[in-house]
Amino acid sequence: MNATTRYCAVYGHPVKHSASPAFQNAGLAALGLNWRYLAFDVPPEQLREAILGAQRMRFIGVNLTVPHKLLAVGMVDALDESARSWGAVNTIRFEARTPSGEWKPLALFPDEVPPETRSQGFNTDAGAITRSVEENLAISLRGARALLLGAGGAGRTAALKLASDGVAELFLVNRTRSKAEDVAREIRERFPATRCTLDYPSGPVDLVLNATSLGLKAGDPLPYDSARFDLSKAGAVYDMIYRPAETPLLCAAKAAGCRAANGVGMLLYQGVKALEIWTGQPAPVAVMRAALVKNVYG
Ligand code: ATR
Repeated sequence: MNATTRYCAVYGHPVKHSASPAFQNAGLAALGLNWRYLAFDVPPEQLREAILGAQRMRFIGVNLTVPHKLLAVGMVDALDESARSWGAVNTIRFEARTPSGEWKPLALFPDEVPPETRSQGFNTDAGAITRSVEENLAISLRGARALLLGAGGAGRTAALKLASDGVAELFLVNRTRSKAEDVAREIRERFPATRCTLDYPSGPVDLVLNATSLGLKAGDPLPYDSARFDLSKAGAVYDMIYRPAETPLLCAAKAAGCRAANGVGMLLYQGVKALEIWTGQPAPVAVMRAALVKNVYG
C-alpha cells in the first residue's frame, strides 16, 4: 500500500465473518491493481454517511450486505437497471463527471479525479443466484419446474429471478404464507409466463432451492415438510446456505441421488460481477474461487 492505493470495501452489521475481503483482494492482486478491499462494521443509521465518506475519499466502490441492501436504494444518486429491477443494492460504484458531462467509473481516473462525483447502485445478487444454480448443478432454468422454499428477502429475489430467466412452473412454500402470496402476486404481474403455485408439487421438479435460514444452525430441521414432498422427485437441490458446507437438506439430497450444491457459488459470482462493474474488465474467477473456498472452508 502507498499513497496511490485505491480502496473498495464491504459494509455490513455485523461484518466480521465476511469472506469478501479474502477473495476480492485475491482478485485485485491477480489483476495487478494497486487497490485494496476492506471491511467496515457500519450500523444502518450511519450508512448514508459511510457511503458519502467513501465517495469523498475517492473509493472505487463498496459492497453492502445485511442489513443495508434495501436501505441503500434510497441513498445512492443513481440506480442501475439491476438495482431497480430487484429493489435492492449490494454494489455501489462511485463515478465522476467528465468535462463532456458523462459519468465514468472512478477506476478510470488513477490520478486526478474530476470534482463532481456520484454513487450508482447495482444489484449483483440476483444474477449470481441463477448463474450459480445453472453452472454448479448443470441445469438450464428455461422451461424448468422449481420448488422454492422461503419468501424472505433472498427468497423473493430468487423467485423473481427464476421467473425472469424463464422457469415455466414455480412452486412457492413459506412458513408465513402471506409472504409467499405477495411474491406470487409480483411474479404474476411482472412475469406472467411463469405459472406460480403456492404449494408443494405433486409431480417431479428439476430444482429445489432453499432460501430459508433453516440449516444455518446445528440441529435445524429440514426446510421442507417431508410428509408433503419427497426429494426423490427432485433432479437437483440448491441450498443458498454455504456455512455449513453441507446442510441437512444437501445431505438428504445426496442420499436421494440428487445433484446438490451449496450457496458458495452465489457469494463468488456476486463478487465477481461487482469487481467487473468496478474495473470494467473480466474478473479472475478461478483465483477468486480458490481464495473464497480457502477462507470459508480452510
Ligand atoms: P433473508 O434476507 O436471508 O431471506 P429473511 O428475509 O429473514 O432473510 O428470510 C428468512 C426466511 O427463512 C423466510 O422465508 C423465513 O420464513 P418466514 O417468512 O415465515 O419468517 C424462513 N425461516 C426462518 N426461520 C424459519 C423457521 N424456523 N421455520 C421455517 N422457515 C423459517
